[in-house]
Amino acid sequence: MIVIKNENEIELMRQGGKILAGIMEEIGKKIASGVNTLELDKLAERLVFNNGGTPAFKGYGDKKNPYPATICASINEEIVHAIPSVKVIIREGDLVKIDIGMKYKGLITDMARTFPVGTVSAKAYELVKATREALNQGISKIKAGAKLSEYSMAVESYARSFGFLPVHDLVGHGVGRILHEDPIIPNYHWSGKDLVLKENMTLALEPMINEGTYKIKLGADGWTYLTQDDKLSAHFEDTVVVKKGGCEILTR
Ligand code: MF3
Ligand code: CO
Repeated sequence: MIVIKNENEIELMRQGGKILAGIMEEIGKKIASGVNTLELDKLAERLVFNNGGTPAFKGYGDKKNPYPATICASINEEIVHAIPSVKVIIREGDLVKIDIGMKYKGLITDMARTFPVGTVSAKAYELVKATREALNQGISKIKAGAKLSEYSMAVESYARSFGFLPVHDLVGHGVGRILHEDPIIPNYHWSGKDLVLKENMTLALEPMINEGTYKIKLGADGWTYLTQDDKLSAHFEDTVVVKKGGCEILTR
């Protein structure tokens, strides 16, 4: 069931999203060669609590293996959901993907960014730019009355124009009252039942774009998704609210 938010809920997501974007900016400033990803997680958690929020990812999932951190910090061939660790040290040339969700006054917003560390390869830089712009191209299709597939096709065709491929097995989602609400939001052209977007749906749009194969594998920790061919992946995510004639991006 897709939950349409009321104006009060949207205003809270607007406030939370703005705070979350500020937190992401602070995390980005700290990313550098020699820093471990647990330090980034600690910073993120402190900022979330200091701003009156709570981490939306911590404790998520199966009781046997709940997600243990505030952020996901995925590097290079890691696509998403890598767990921060003191043992994971960022290096010059890395692509560091930070994903963070925050509950603020009862409502969740969710966002991700890919940060190139120092000088990265030309291919890596192109992948980051293409993924950022693929999200923007997708966002440009979001408005009340549009079909969800217009978003998906815009993302895929933009990525493909550089020879890159969106991941199929991980998707965006509705967001707000809980982290993962309906609908699922593929980043590639799919066949099956389409959906007409309605005003005040709130969506987490999150293309994950791979340099090589779109296929993924799950790491031994049960959380980290990696590219099957160990080539690079990039990820950008924003929470948006559907409006007449367009959408409002809540996490910038
Ligand atoms: N943005 C990601 C998602 O929507 C982050 C989830 S991490 C998890 O799937 F731990 F909460 F799963
Ligand atoms: Co998400």
